[in-house]
Parts: sequence; C-alpha cells; structure tokens
Amino acid sequence: EIAKVLAQPALDDTITVMGWVRAFRGNRFIALNDGSTPHTLQIVLDAEKIDETIIKKIKFHACLSITGQLVASQGAGQAVEILAESIEVLGECNPEDGYMMQPKVQTMEFLRTNAHFRMRTNTFSSVFRLRHAIAFAVHKFYNDRGFFYIHTPIITGSDAEGAGEMFHVTTLDTNSPPRLEDGSVDYTQDFFGKATNLTVSGQLQGEIAALALGKIYTFGPTFRAENSNTPRHLAEFWMIEPEVAFNDIVDNMDLAEEFTKYLINYCLENHLADLELLDKRLAEEQNALPKDKRRAMGLIEQLRFVVDNAFERITYTEAVEILMKSKPYKEKKFEFPVEWGSDLQSEHERYLVEKEFKKPVIVRNYPKEIKAFYMRLNDDDKTVAAMDVLFPGIGEVIGGSQREDRHDLLVERIKAIGIAEEELWWYLQLRKFGGAPHAGFGLGFERMVQFITGMSNIRDVIAFPRTPGNAEF
Ligand code: 4AD
Ligand code: MG
Repeated sequence: EIAKVLAQPALDDTITVMGWVRAFRGNRFIALNDGSTPHTLQIVLDAEKIDETIIKKIKFHACLSITGQLVASQGAGQAVEILAESIEVLGECNPEDGYMMQPKVQTMEFLRTNAHFRMRTNTFSSVFRLRHAIAFAVHKFYNDRGFFYIHTPIITGSDAEGAGEMFHVTTLDTNSPPRLEDGSVDYTQDFFGKATNLTVSGQLQGEIAALALGKIYTFGPTFRAENSNTPRHLAEFWMIEPEVAFNDIVDNMDLAEEFTKYLINYCLENHLADLELLDKRLAEEQNALPKDKRRAMGLIEQLRFVVDNAFERITYTEAVEILMKSKPYKEKKFEFPVEWGSDLQSEHERYLVEKEFKKPVIVRNYPKEIKAFYMRLNDDDKTVAAMDVLFPGIGEVIGGSQREDRHDLLVERIKAIGIAEEELWWYLQLRKFGGAPHAGFGLGFERMVQFITGMSNIRDVIAFPRTPGNAEF
C-alpha cells in the first residue's frame, strides 16, 4: 500500500506496488496512486530494462503492478522512489479505445456523468476518503459518549414526519391496483397490508429507543421525493439523528455544536493532506469567480475558524428583526418575504450566517405553524422548541427540537394538523407510559461533507447521487 510505503519506507527493500498511473513523464517517471493516500509514489524506470511494448501501455489511469527497489529519491518533491525492475500491466487504458478521462481539469458536470471513473481523480479520491473519515468520526463521537447506534427501518408505514414528498413502496400492479368501493387504492391487499414508503427520517423510531436506552443515534439513508434541483438537495441522502432522554433544547444545541466541531476537528487532525488538496482546488475555483462572489475564507482557514469560535445562538424572532433591518431587505433584494410567521428561506439563512454573524448560527423557537407537530410547544403558545443549525456556504445542516412530551398537548397538535390519532397510537403511548423530556436532531450527512470538503454541489460528495431524473449507476 502506497500510504504505508510513504509513511514507513523500508529503504533498499525490493517491494511490489499496484495502482493507477496519474502521470508518466519523459518515458521515465511514473506517478502511481493506489487510492490509499492523496500522494503518488514515484517510479523510475530504465528504458533499457523494461520491454518497449510495456512502456507503450503506460497510459494515464492504466493499472500497473511494479516491482523494484525502494530508494531515497534524488529529485525534489518526494522522499523515496522505486527503481522499477519489472512492470506488469494489469489493466490497459487507451484513449484510442474511448477512455474519456484526461490528465487535466475536467468539469464537475462531465465527471458526474462519468461517476464510474471520477473517484480516480485527485479531487474525488480526497472527497471520498474524507467522507469515510467523517462517517467513522460520527460513530467514534457517539460511542465515546455512551450513545447506542440504532438501525431504524428503511421501509415504513408511518408517514407522519411531514418532511416532504415520499417515495411509495408497493408490490401492487400500479396499472390496475385493487380498489375500494370509493375508488381509492386498497392497500390492505399490498405486501404489508397497508400503504408504505421509504423513510424520510428515523426520528420517531429513534424516540422509541431513546425512551428505553437513554442516548441513541441513527445513521442511515433517508429519502425525499422533493423536486428540488439545487446544490443542497438529494432524493437519497444520509442522516445522523441523535435522540437523548432528559435533554432539553439547550442540551440539544450544545450537543449539535460539540458534534459538528468534533467532526471538523477529526478531519483536521487525521486527514490534513486531503484537506490541503481540496483547499487548493477550492482556491482555484474561487479565483475564477468575480471578486464579490468569492468566499471570505479559504477551506482550512474556515474549518479552523468554525471549531475555534462559539456558534451564535438567536431566536427566530431575533432573526426576523435582524433581517428586517438588513440592507437587502430595505433594498427589496430578498426574493421571499420576511415577516414573523413565514419560514426562513435559504437566502435569509445565508444572510444571517455570511453577512451578519460570519459564523455558524443556531436559530431556535420557530412559530409552531411552520414546524413539525412533534416539537414541544413553548410557554408563549406561539413558538416551539425547534432549532436549525446554519453553516456558512451551506445554510441548514441540522434541524432538530425538544419533543412534545405532554400527551394531551401532543394529541391537540396532531388533531390540529389533521393526522389521524390512530396512526400514531404507539407514538402517543410513549407519552402516556413512562414518558420523559427528550430532544434530538438530524444532521444532513452530505451537507456536512460538503462543508468540510468545500465542494459546492451536493452531487459531488456522494458516490452515486440520486436527483430528479438521475438514477444512473
Ligand atoms: O430538518 P429535517 O427535515 O429534520 C428531520 O428530518 C428531523 N426528523 C430530524 C430530527 O430531529 N431527528 O432534516 C434534517 C437535515 C437537514 O437539516 C438537512 O441538513 C438534511 O437533513 N436534509 C437534506 N440533505 C440533503 N438533501 C435533502 N433533500 C435534505 N433534506 C434534509
Ligand atoms: Mg429542516
């Protein structure tokens, strides 16, 4: 493995390495990468020793197995190199045969349509190593703090979250499904005996677990059929949802801040080389933009800034007041209205984070009308103990709340928004029998990966993005 060879070089040993050609210069120097590290290993070959037919096959992204002596390098830029004694071509890679990847900057759009090869690029191999690292850090964070990892169902008959459009799951013949007398589809004849869908959130099941195990988290795929073609939305994304018995909204905000900072720190401490590469990439991308469109900070600079500073914490009401005093509001530059009672749109969130506070902001106590039924009603009777965590460049990374733990108030809320009580019988029983105050939130995993890698489109931080009209690969 090249990562190990570079970290602990056993000089003078004869070793074999395998990987893909990143560059081949002067018929003499190969830069080989095997995915274990952002760095390449230099291979020096002596044209007299290696067969000419093999040298001809050393093309960009060809896969090679190389045996030779590991020696200290004379050249600048690397500490060690291999003097090739033999080279075996494991997989040829000829542009003449139609290979479309080239050793130059190619557009993100082009790379997306070639997702089967994009992980071989510097940028994407760094992104996916970091994605792995962040996922690992999620488990480490919660495991170290005594949380239990709960697997909640992907297919569910509960559709009460109200988090947007759902993907339906059915084995019925959709052309001519069995119908009830009133003409509606008879789902009692479906596989599960009721209508089902892909989950939009594991929260409600997570609450069941928290009210038995105390501290739990979920980490799984979630699905939303919202037709939003934006750089922040996927139809299939991963969410981490901690849920904690006895926590209130302040504990919840503390956990969210500690958690997100931990993930960033973990990457800074363990994957700096990948971050440095992505920092450079982002700087190049930024330089191509007009000055007023550029980010205020470089990637690593911003990551350090976020972990070193306390998040701003404001109420929804304060947020609306700030927005109504803002320049874009006065100049009528906001597309959506700002008034107490309407939801904050991403343009508003970005104003708060990028212009007003210039750091992550936690907004809490939203009007009950614009938030989910399960959020705890505040004493003002108007707002609920909801919180959104907003990040620079991304907007909302976390949504969460303290949950309504009072049975009668929850029944009232459920009725008010027109959900049938029977549907949530088990959820209501959790309040009736041995209930407790509890709180939790959901972190959009890809949005966090976006923030840490500096990738501007969410499609570029998940290997095989699912978006409207795209289910290739
Ligand atoms: O704010 P949301 O809808 O909250 C929930 O689903 C709660 N049940 C979470 C909880 O309290 N346990 O979603 C949570 C986060 C958002 O803040 C956002 O980061 C991400 O999930 N998210 C998406 N990420 C990518 N694509 C989408 N379509 C997303 N929708 C939400
Ligand atoms: Mg939300």
